[in-house]
Amino acid sequence: MYEILERKDLVPNIHLFKIAAPKVAKKARPGQFVVIRIDEWGERIPLTIADWDEEEGSITIVFMEVGTTTCRLARLQAGDYITDFIGPLGLPTHIEKFGTVVCVAGGVGVAPIMPIARAMRKAGNRVISILGARNKNLLFWEDELRNVSDQLIVTTDDGSYGRKGVVTEPLKELLGSGEKVDRVIAIGPSIMMKYCSLTTKPFCVKTIVSLNPIMVDGTGMCGCCRVSVNGVTRFVCVDGPDFDGHQVDWDLLFARQRIYLEEEKRSMELWQCQCASH
Ligand SMILES: Cc1cc2nc3c(=O)[nH]c(=O)nc-3n(C[C@H](O)[C@H](O)[C@H](O)COP(=O)(O)OP(=O)(O)OC[C@H]3O[C@@H](n4cnc5c(N)ncnc54)[C@H](O)[C@@H]3O)c2cc1C
Ligand code: FES
Repeated sequence: MYEILERKDLVPNIHLFKIAAPKVAKKARPGQFVVIRIDEWGERIPLTIADWDEEEGSITIVFMEVGTTTCRLARLQAGDYITDFIGPLGLPTHIEKFGTVVCVAGGVGVAPIMPIARAMRKAGNRVISILGARNKNLLFWEDELRNVSDQLIVTTDDGSYGRKGVVTEPLKELLGSGEKVDRVIAIGPSIMMKYCSLTTKPFCVKTIVSLNPIMVDGTGMCGCCRVSVNGVTRFVCVDGPDFDGHQVDWDLLFARQRIYLEEEKRSMELWQCQCASH
């Protein structure tokens, strides 16, 4: 059993849990993820490692409430336990001194990008970060990301904070300004990662995205997380989650993400009925 040491509500539907998992904390690297299960009846879900503390033996995860498991998870408090916490899984993000690295984070994507931006800076890169959210109330970790970046640009879709618009606009301007950008890392909703990749393609800047298909085992056995990259089938849980965004078959990813929409909806309704009857 894995204890929740700390809980923070970052925005109303995005929460941070610090979880006691010393063995995972010992091996965690930027870009890796864990698979958790709340209890023995629970579904397994993947969540990226947002931070870790080897000394304390803790892992920090940040999750958005989108369906049954994440909503159930959001009901837990510090002092509660979850049954399974498997990791670190996936390949770590490739960190080296590239030169100038632009880190683009959309919504909850700021959590997984934090350790990557920090590691890129530590490796000697100039880090420019772009942080976007739909509105001011959904923004979090602005100061934290600024602290690990040489420059930070904040956008909101509705203009309620920072620059009005979406993250691809400052990204395109940056690339077109003559600034030499050696690598772009984009993490957030799949549609955002697709458009970041389309934005960087004409500039021939390598763009790494962290894919989030539906996963089951997280260890390469079920095939559920398969994607097509450069025409080759890859399993995100063992070959990724990082891939070259210019080579991802985005339409296939979107289609596979929607496969269980009906079941997910029914599961949510069932859970809400159970909650209402208690
Ligand atoms: C490697 C990996 C790392 C991930 N890291 C994180 C993370 O750090 N934080 C986090 O909040 N999520 C993360 N996700 C997504 C997370 O696993 C899903 O949000 C979760 O499985 C949803 O489970 P659920 O039962 O709550 O919702 P479900 O009932 O499974 O899904 C409910 C609805 O949400 C949609 N949905 C599924 N995934 C997402 C998503 N990523 N964004 C928006 N809608 C989604 C479904 O398509 C469905 O429509 C990650 C996914 C992968 C593959
Ligand atoms: S989740 Fe089963 S193979 Fe990747």
